[in-house]
Amino acid sequence: MDLIKKIPSSSVALTITSPPYAMDKEYESGNTLDDFVAAHEALVPELVRITKDGGSICWQVGYHVKDGIVTPLDFLVYEAFRKFPELVLRNRIIWTFGHGLHCANRFSGRHETILWFSKGDKFSFNLDDVRIPQKYPGKRANRGPRKGEYSGNPKGKNPSDVWDIPNVKSNHVEKLDHPCQFPVGLAQRMIKALTTPGDLIFDPFSGVASSGVAALVENRRYIGAELNPKYAEIAETRLKEAVAGSVKLRPDVPVYVPTAGEAVAKRPAHFAAPLTE
Ligand SMILES: C[S@@+](CC[C@H](N)C(=O)[O-])C[C@H]1O[C@@H](n2cnc3c(N)ncnc32)[C@H](O)[C@@H]1O
Repeated sequence: MDLIKKIPSSSVALTITSPPYAMDKEYESGNTLDDFVAAHEALVPELVRITKDGGSICWQVGYHVKDGIVTPLDFLVYEAFRKFPELVLRNRIIWTFGHGLHCANRFSGRHETILWFSKGDKFSFNLDDVRIPQKYPGKRANRGPRKGEYSGNPKGKNPSDVWDIPNVKSNHVEKLDHPCQFPVGLAQRMIKALTTPGDLIFDPFSGVASSGVAALVENRRYIGAELNPKYAEIAETRLKEAVAGSVKLRPDVPVYVPTAGEAVAKRPAHFAAPLTE
């Protein structure tokens, strides 16, 4: 709150963050849903103030689970944000990942959400910058006036509102000494889609600055707030590595890669070579 009050009004193009989930993690001061709501009620008016018209706020949360009771945090976040009519919800993105705890008495949780709000009616959305490979890039129309031509957009397809991006577990290339990092690729997609080079990106719960790394590698500017000095120190080192070009990143490539036999033709040259997970 001390930092955000110093940020000039209408100066931030995109706030992207994942707040504490009130789950008794080492970094949390309050651990009830009321604490979660109170923290948001204090923060959101300041976020609205610093966001420029046409800018965006992306809030990444999962579920608060206590005594077997599951509460979807995006529901509480939405309630806090919708009090501001200038904030318009544009997408509720499902972030899905393959790994996590195996539950014995309910389905294992394999997704969290990102709420994307724009400030005002006008907003930028650079779809061409975040297109992903078609599953079958060589598929051609087999009838009609476009018969024989590629049926999909040769630049790739819209990544949709369901994102399959591996979460940062112990063997992930980006893993550092923080319990709840999100992948840089998740922030990177938001930054590329919603901002332009030189824009200012803000993360009020920056952890080890995954949003900051995404901002710097995409030539944007970054401000982050982190209370825990250990995480802030790791973040500083990592941001320097991002500037130097030596930071470790998982490339934004699909988790599922069709085999040569399944794919109808060659992957377009402008997409990176597929990784096998
Ligand atoms: C879910 S983690 C965010 C992790 C981050 N997305 C990353 O990839 O590293 C939330 C972070 O918020 C920090 N935090 C908690 N309360 C805070 C506050 N009032 N101001 C700044 N940071 C805070 C915690 O120390 C923790 O690192």
